[in-house]
Amino acid sequence: MAERKGIILAGGSGTRLYPITLGLSKQLVPIYDKPMIYYPLSVLMLAGIREIAIITTPQDQDQFRRTLGDGSQWGLSFTYIEQPSPDGLAQAYILAEPFLDGALSAMVLGDNIFFGHGLPELLAAADAQPVGGTVFGYRVVDPQRYGVVDFAADGTVRAIVEKPEVPPSRYAVTGLYFLDGSAPARARQVAPSPRGELEITSLLEMYLADGQLQVQQMGRGYAWLDTGTHASLLDAGNFVRTLSERQGQQIGSPDEIAWQQGWIDAEALRARAAMFGKNDYGAYLLRLCD
Ligand code: TTP
Repeated sequence: MAERKGIILAGGSGTRLYPITLGLSKQLVPIYDKPMIYYPLSVLMLAGIREIAIITTPQDQDQFRRTLGDGSQWGLSFTYIEQPSPDGLAQAYILAEPFLDGALSAMVLGDNIFFGHGLPELLAAADAQPVGGTVFGYRVVDPQRYGVVDFAADGTVRAIVEKPEVPPSRYAVTGLYFLDGSAPARARQVAPSPRGELEITSLLEMYLADGQLQVQQMGRGYAWLDTGTHASLLDAGNFVRTLSERQGQQIGSPDEIAWQQGWIDAEALRARAAMFGKNDYGAYLLRLCD
């Protein structure tokens, strides 16, 4: 079977971050020392994925190309796809259908940050499922802002409910979706919601109806941060700074992961370190080479 391919959904309008995002894509705003998109990109790389589509608004695509290039600096291959208007997360699968070409996929939202011990193992387990889908449930204090998992008494998943006024549980579905090759065909069956979007929840419900959706829990040892508001953006930056300074280890570095995965050699890593020679990120990469 073909390798699983990746999608980073980095369009949207970012209206909650205005005026910052009037002239800049939200997913390029800094989270401490790196552009936001480095973090979700790192998650796909940890899952071993090297062929990645980056979906952006038409007007922001140039900024992404300048920031990320063609991926070869990390041993990756990037395909850029435009989303003409933000018509919902499930639309990504329709836009990416030619890119996916029947392959399994992992899609991550460009403004989601995941961190936790054991994340590579969790991703590997999801990757190992050739049929159906895997999503991740994460306990939050404000589930009504998300798609929420409705568990039956025996712990099986009964439904996923989008932004419910009365949440059936505290478990939100995070912005990371491992789906099989049927995702684009299913996404084409999704009808727009009352807010006019092709909802990812509707797509997941189709998998659920066929008994093909697994919900893995991400336990309390994980951080799942969303960065869509001014306060959560600053919190995420502080989180990354606190942890990386305390441990002397990077969070969300595609350079380090590419090197660890053996996708780039020490010489290529050294070249990247030289680009960032004036800051701590460059010094960190240089220490890895030595
Ligand atoms: P949201 O946070 O729901 O929306 P947004 O980014 O447009 O921000 P705001 O609510 O402040 O206006 O989107 C979640 C992620 O999905 C984010 O990374 C943007 C992305 N997205 C798309 O790329 N296309 C879409 O059609 C939608 C709805 C979101």
